[in-house]
Parts: sequence; structure tokens; C-alpha cells
Amino acid sequence: MKHRVFLLMALAIVVTMFVIGCATPAQPTSAPPTAAPQPTAAQAMELKGELNMLCTPQQEWCDGMKKEFETKYPGVTVNFVRLSSGEALTRLRNEKDNPQFDIWWGGPIDSFIAAKNEGLLDPYKAAGYANIRDPKLMLDPDGQWVGIYVGSLGFATNNDFLKINPNVKPPASADDLLKPEFKGQIYIAHPASSGTSYTFLCTILQQKGEQAGWEYMKQFAQQVAQFTKSGAAPVQSVGKGEGAVGIVFSHDIVAGIETGLPLTLSFPAEGTGYEIGGMGLVKGAKNPELAKAWFDWAIEPSTQELGPKYKAYQAPTVNGAKASKPELLQVKLIEYNFDYCGKNKKAFVDKFTNEIAKPPQ
Ligand code: G6P
Repeated sequence: MKHRVFLLMALAIVVTMFVIGCATPAQPTSAPPTAAPQPTAAQAMELKGELNMLCTPQQEWCDGMKKEFETKYPGVTVNFVRLSSGEALTRLRNEKDNPQFDIWWGGPIDSFIAAKNEGLLDPYKAAGYANIRDPKLMLDPDGQWVGIYVGSLGFATNNDFLKINPNVKPPASADDLLKPEFKGQIYIAHPASSGTSYTFLCTILQQKGEQAGWEYMKQFAQQVAQFTKSGAAPVQSVGKGEGAVGIVFSHDIVAGIETGLPLTLSFPAEGTGYEIGGMGLVKGAKNPELAKAWFDWAIEPSTQELGPKYKAYQAPTVNGAKASKPELLQVKLIEYNFDYCGKNKKAFVDKFTNEIAKPPQ
């Protein structure tokens, strides 16, 4: 009897450890890939038409994915428009009665949660859901969105600025961004248009609490040289030396460094926010079959490993796909509450716009 109790306890510990392991989005699991069955080449040839996609990640990745999908489905033409998260959401809202897009691919899920709440997405039960690494975090319980990549927020500091100012260190906390040496030197997108910037805003509100968080944001805004439209734009501005520090997703900073921009990547020691990039079917889409083919394809392990070919170093969300830069998620991440950030997105963005800074025109 005693022996059996001991065995049960040991089993409980192992199960608990497994659950804790799964709760961390960054960690690859050892679960065997159970990817959904793929269409044969003949079946792929049969699919015909035009797929209209809202694409939120960087242009190069959107272009690459279009090309890859059209190679797999030669009868399909993918038309896409690259729009930042907030702009994409506004577009879907405005076109609600006559949707022009079939699928929305990429951008932090906060906006997909907001879109779901506004009735802008259609549910879908993809066979590939069985292979999602951490369904609790990465899959909407009603199947209205699914996670397709993960990325952490980082700081990009211009190396020439550091050389000219030898006493200045790259920021190592959110509070460092308020230091006098960074006044008028920070680049970040505006949270009304950008999911990247909204991730930063909601990270601060969660870490500091809403009251202190808004106080912080007011001071922070005084440090900002320019709010950009798109989330990754500060990589270029700071890379060119227009400012000292950019706040962007770390994979965008790494991509900038690889193209030769003089940047140093750092992270806030107290923990950084992160995104789960999402995907969802547009409600009332005119080409749902094509949209579902893209949807299924986007959660295949081989598709999720295509990113680095197009300088996209986000981590995959499916078992069986390897992260190209795992170190970008091996930093201290906060327990980002996507539900809280998604449900409050409109209220927080409106408050920021009305009380702190207007979006760029
Ligand atoms: C970049 C990042 C993506 C992110 C996207 C959000 O493209 O590489 O990981 O999802 O920005 O775009 P936004 O312009 O809305 O900040």
C-alpha cells in the first residue's frame, strides 16, 4: 500500500513538472510531432482562385510566404496587404459588412482577441491544432485564432551613440529608459497602429499596475523622439543613428544586426513582454476554402521553419519545428496576460491617444 502511494506521488510530481514545462511558451517540448495529413500534389493542383490576405509581419516575410504558398498551390494567387496590427483591426471593423480579406496572418494575438470580441473572426477546427505546442496559451478555445509564432520584446541601442557617450550603458530595465541621456532619443511605434508598441504598453501596465504604469508611460513619452506607424520601423531609425534606443521585438533587432546595422540588443532584467503572433479566418470571407488551405499550411512544422529564409526569427508554435534563435526566448519573460491585454486593447489605446500622444499621420 505504502509502495503504491509513493508511486502515485512520484507520478504526480512528474506530471506537475511536465505541466510547468508546457506553461513556458519559449521551451520546445519533446512531444512527437503529430502534424495533420497533407494534401497530395494532385489535390493541391485542384485548388484554384485568389486568396486575399491581411499580412501583419514584416514585408519580406509576407512576400516570401506568398511565394511559398503559390508554389505549393499553383492554381492560387495570393494578394496581400501589409498592415500593422491596429490598422488591420480597423480595416476589418470597417469592412465588417463586406469583407475584402479572407485571412489575417500575423501580429500579436492581443488584436485577434479584440477582433474575436467584436465578432470579426470565424471559428475553424484545424486538424493541426493537435500539434500546437502550448494550446492553453496559443489556441483560442473557440478556434477563432491560433498562435503561429512567438517573440520577445527587446531594446536596440545604436553602437555609435554608445561610443560617443562612453558612460552610457544600453538600457537594462524599463526604468533605464527614463534616464536623462535618453531624452528625445527613443523610437517606438504608436500603440494605436502597432501591436509591437501595444505589447510594450501592456507589459508596463501589468508589471507596474495600471496606476503606476500610466504614470510611467507619461514620463516615457517625454523621452520619445518619434512614434512610428509600424512596430519594426525603429530598427531602421536607430540603426541609421536618428535616435539612441528603439523598442521592438528582439527578432527584428537581430534581423537588423544581420543586415549590418550597428545595434546592441539588450533586455529588461525585471522581465520582458512577449508576443504570440496569431492567425484567424475573417468572418464572412469570400474565399473560405482557400483561407483554410493557408491556415492548415501555416501550422505545418515545415512551413514554420521557413521564417529564417526571409529574415524572420520568431520561434515556431508547433511541435516538430525548430526555433532558429532559441536564445531570444531564453530571457526572463513576464507572465503576459493576453486575455487582459486583448479585452482592454481599445480602452488602453484610446487612453494613450487621448492622454499621452496622438498617432503619427
Ligand atoms: C514585426 C515583427 C512581428 C510582429 C509585427 C507586429 O513585423 O517581426 O513579429 O508581429 O512586427 O507589427 P506591428 O507593426 O503591428 O507592430
